Amino acid sequence: MTPHLLSVSDLEVQYRRPGQLPTRAVAGVSLDVQAGEVVGLVGESGCGKSTLARAVCGLTAPTAGGIVFDGTPVGPLRVRRREPALTRIQMVFQDPYGSLNPRRRVGAQIADGIRIAALRGDIPVPESTDGPVEHFLTRVGLPASAAQRFPHEFSGGQRQRIAIARALAARPSLLVGDEPISALDASAQAQVASLMRSLAVESGAGLLFISHDLSVVRLIADRIAVMYLGRIVETGTTAEVWDNPRHPYTQALLAAIPQPDGAGRLPTELPGDVPDPAAPPSGCRFHPRCPRAFDGCDREDPRLNADGVACRLYA
Ligand SMILES: Nc1ncnc2c1ncn2[C@@H]1O[C@H](COP(=O)(O)OP(=O)(O)OP(=O)(O)O)[C@@H](O)[C@H]1O
Ligand SMILES: [Mg+2]
Repeated sequence: MTPHLLSVSDLEVQYRRPGQLPTRAVAGVSLDVQAGEVVGLVGESGCGKSTLARAVCGLTAPTAGGIVFDGTPVGPLRVRRREPALTRIQMVFQDPYGSLNPRRRVGAQIADGIRIAALRGDIPVPESTDGPVEHFLTRVGLPASAAQRFPHEFSGGQRQRIAIARALAARPSLLVGDEPISALDASAQAQVASLMRSLAVESGAGLLFISHDLSVVRLIADRIAVMYLGRIVETGTTAEVWDNPRHPYTQALLAAIPQPDGAGRLPTELPGDVPDPAAPPSGCRFHPRCPRAFDGCDREDPRLNADGVACRLYA
């Protein structure tokens, strides 16, 4: 069997703040991504998706567990720079304003990605970055003239395309998108999501695509992992999860998606908010909100079974 491109095992990430209980934002997660595969990670706000993504990229130190990327353990960011091997992981964030430098021309920022790949020795140092910059702009559907402009001259969707071009220019073998489409309007959302999928798959890279929107993830992911309060509660192929959701949380997420006829069922099954991860419920973390909880769910903490579901209904 070929080793996974990314292998996350029993990962825990805690945040500690003086005078407060530690927050276990990621509380024992195992997740793999293969080369050329798109894995969608979904879950409500606050369930730990970004924390997981940041740990995968070496931006947040795990408290326990391991992350191996392409045979290299991912450690926390060094003071000045990431391990060169880790520049093969590139991230696209929710807000491209936060990740693009407003004072530098778009072309110069994409050229940074090209230089990263050259420093790693993956491509020869280009005499001029103009040609490669144009290549990546074209691939994300922007004109070559965009290179001379500044980020604020573009729409949100276009800025996200620039962020994708810059990430691709660094020749990643894993692309991590943390809510890369949630700041975009509906038509741009599907376009940018599909673009990320096709560019990642064409280049043979894996894609970990994070979103709270299961209906968009469904369009582009090969596999889906559903996260709740620091844990993966269900995982499977996109067809399995979409057509036959088993965990009551996944069922509730699906029920919350508006229907094409506009009727838009309300998520009546899913009352309340995600609890504070600093004080998670006893037993199954989902039991206080679960419409199918039964005797013992408040005491026993189910872990993912061999079928990819963490629920006592399927024990
Ligand atoms: N730097 C931090 N210090 C302390 N707590 C944090 C920090 N970052 C996140 N948290 C807490 O960790 C938990 C998980 O946060 P995280 O941002 O990973 O969730 P998320 O699933 O990405 O949410 P969203 O969908 O809103 O982006 C939350 O309870 C959050 O308040
Ligand atoms: Mg987040």
